[in-house]
Amino acid sequence: MTKVAKIELEGQTHEFPIIEGSEGEKAIDISKLRGTTGHITLDNGFANTGSCRSAITFLNGEQGILRYRGYPIEQLSERSRFMEVSYLLGYGELPNTIQLKNYERKVANLATLPHGICKMLDHFPKNAHPMGVASSVTSALSSFYPDLLNPNLSDEDIDRCMAQMLAQTKIIISYFYRRTQGLDPIGSNPELGYAADFLNMMFAGGDYVTDPEISKALDVLLILHADHEQNCSASTVRVVGSSLANVFASVSGGINALWGQLHGGANQAVLEMLNEIKDGGGDHKKYIQKAKDKNDSFRLMGFGHRVYKSFDPRAKIIKGACDTILTRLGVKDPLLDIAKGLEEEALRDEYFKSRNLYPNVDFYSGIIYQALGIPTNMFTAMFVLGRIPGWLAQWKEMRTSDFTKIARPRQIYTGYTQREFIDLSNRN
Ligand code: ACO
Repeated sequence: MTKVAKIELEGQTHEFPIIEGSEGEKAIDISKLRGTTGHITLDNGFANTGSCRSAITFLNGEQGILRYRGYPIEQLSERSRFMEVSYLLGYGELPNTIQLKNYERKVANLATLPHGICKMLDHFPKNAHPMGVASSVTSALSSFYPDLLNPNLSDEDIDRCMAQMLAQTKIIISYFYRRTQGLDPIGSNPELGYAADFLNMMFAGGDYVTDPEISKALDVLLILHADHEQNCSASTVRVVGSSLANVFASVSGGINALWGQLHGGANQAVLEMLNEIKDGGGDHKKYIQKAKDKNDSFRLMGFGHRVYKSFDPRAKIIKGACDTILTRLGVKDPLLDIAKGLEEEALRDEYFKSRNLYPNVDFYSGIIYQALGIPTNMFTAMFVLGRIPGWLAQWKEMRTSDFTKIARPRQIYTGYTQREFIDLSNRN
């Protein structure tokens, strides 16, 4: 028997079905609420609103659980590679050896940019923010692939979109970085593996050699960022795509949503905050006080999460990776000590404890990126590199699901009621 929720409104009782997910998550299906009651729901920041049914990522914020297609993030980050995880997210199952090889070959064969896109990348100012560049160029790719603008894409076209975007994002980010350094871009060498190829495209030249341990560490970071269910940027990708806008427009929308410092932009903001604390003499307690002061707009960047209310499992893994990488590179970064000091102080503090504010994925990732030689303003673009397979999996699921409708929320109007127009000559 279907379980129902009863809502009593103006003396009448209305029943709505309860939907249960595979992990026991419960939702009241209010799709018919307005039609039957004339009411809508109002949910600031969609904190209680399920926008879709999804089989990609499961997250339990109370228990600090994150799984892609059922596999715990801890196991994936330790035992798989980013390309396997990309396949898993996009196709639902871990690939076998042949499937993985074919997938890698497909991505490798698409690892070039149209000449016009390279020209575009050549002409951005060197100090342009890489997120603005990445979103503009991703959107501009639509001009070069008219066959992928068709709203009725075949399965084959969807596969191509996913492989192509994975291949091209890596090139866009590294190409622009080399331009900012006055260096000639270099082509992809997929033989190296995704992360090592990216590092090579960024830094090759002089006596640079890709260190397998460093490439592995970057690969783990990419896995940790690969998907996170219906967050701000994934929801944006789905919202844009729900109008049947093309994949480039949808992903470009996701990149823009990620840019903000309450979302992916927090990794850049964390490093800027840590540097500010260091330059100010290292007094992290002052910043804890500022974060608690309701008259101060300052927030502890890299802390807090809409969904995680115990700990962010990704942050735990990244904190460990941070120590490993800094030791491997022989880097002693005072920012790491400041970050650890801030974390310890915050976790003891009643303000943070009572609000369940813990370090999130962005708190330690910037220290790693910095140790790898990646400039601060590129940190969020590194997040893009990791998140591409997740956005594409969400986009594919949205495009192929019978459940999808164009995203079109309602509102509670709070403006003027109807009033009479006043001619210009009669206005004060
Ligand atoms: N520093 C200080 N106080 C905070 C912080 C913080 N980082 N985060 C939340 N709070 C406080 C809020 O002021 C609020 O206090 P109140 O109840 O006294 O008003 C309470 O905790 C709840 O915060 P909300 O803003 O309502 O929580 P929400 O779920 O809307 O926001 C967010 C989540 C945006 C992540 C928030 O915690 C934040 O701004 N964090 C800093 C930015 C950040 O690190 N973003 C990255 C998130 S991870 C990602 O997107 C990849």
